[in-house]
Amino acid sequence: MTETTFAPTVLVQPTAADVAQQVAGVFAQAIRAKPSIVLGLATGGSPVGTYRELVRLHEQSGLDFSNVTTFNLDEYVGLGAEHPQSFRYFMRTHLFDHVNVDPSRTHVPPGVADDIAEAADRYERAIDRAGGIELQLLGIGSNGHIAFNEPGSPRDSQTREVSLTPETIAANARFFDSPDQVPRSAITMGIATILRAKRIVVIATGPAKRAAIGRAIASPPSLDCPASLLQYHRDVTFVIDHEAGHAESTSDGVRSGN
Ligand code: F6R
Repeated sequence: MTETTFAPTVLVQPTAADVAQQVAGVFAQAIRAKPSIVLGLATGGSPVGTYRELVRLHEQSGLDFSNVTTFNLDEYVGLGAEHPQSFRYFMRTHLFDHVNVDPSRTHVPPGVADDIAEAADRYERAIDRAGGIELQLLGIGSNGHIAFNEPGSPRDSQTREVSLTPETIAANARFFDSPDQVPRSAITMGIATILRAKRIVVIATGPAKRAAIGRAIASPPSLDCPASLLQYHRDVTFVIDHEAGHAESTSDGVRSGN
């Protein structure tokens, strides 16, 4: 791999609620600065507080989503938009149904399609046609995955169908009645798709993310930890809580608090 000049901003907050408030503030500011911004969005536990805060800003301060375009990172293969565990459903429940975003401007990779590979190519082209993602929100798996790019995912990967690792299936079983119900594959933006975003914000909270955050920030980039490939991007901000931060909060170039 080539050298990087990685100098991420790492903001360490006391609690997950503070993380949510700070990240929502970043997104709100970006939307106000450019009302027609193209956002990349994530699902999972990490962004829930951020979405709650964005909904509050919409309701109480009139944060306007009417010209915003969104692209989600991923979707389970086999789950349609109406399935309660689909990521499309998650986005409606946590954000889209509560703000004035135009549903036709919200994009989630299709979990059901005659030809998933073709649908994945179409998703890439739709991102390009929209002008590219300007601000991308990411969570991080405890195994270092970003979106559903599991360890070993190539740096030049694009949107495609991938198999989920047993670790990810186990981690996501909490959203299903049983682990057997977790789909075995997903359609996900690739590492290259994510690296094309102009600006990236990564959320991590809780001790289960500590090792992955340590590797993403402080170890050399490696396919074993997909999040470490973010070191090839020039504008990445990690917003983490103390529990996810640990030793990183004392490293060079790391700031604590606001
Ligand atoms: C979600 C996604 C995943 C999650 C990651 C962390 O769209 O792409 O990479 O960000 O699995 O999940 P949580 O936040 O539930 O710990």
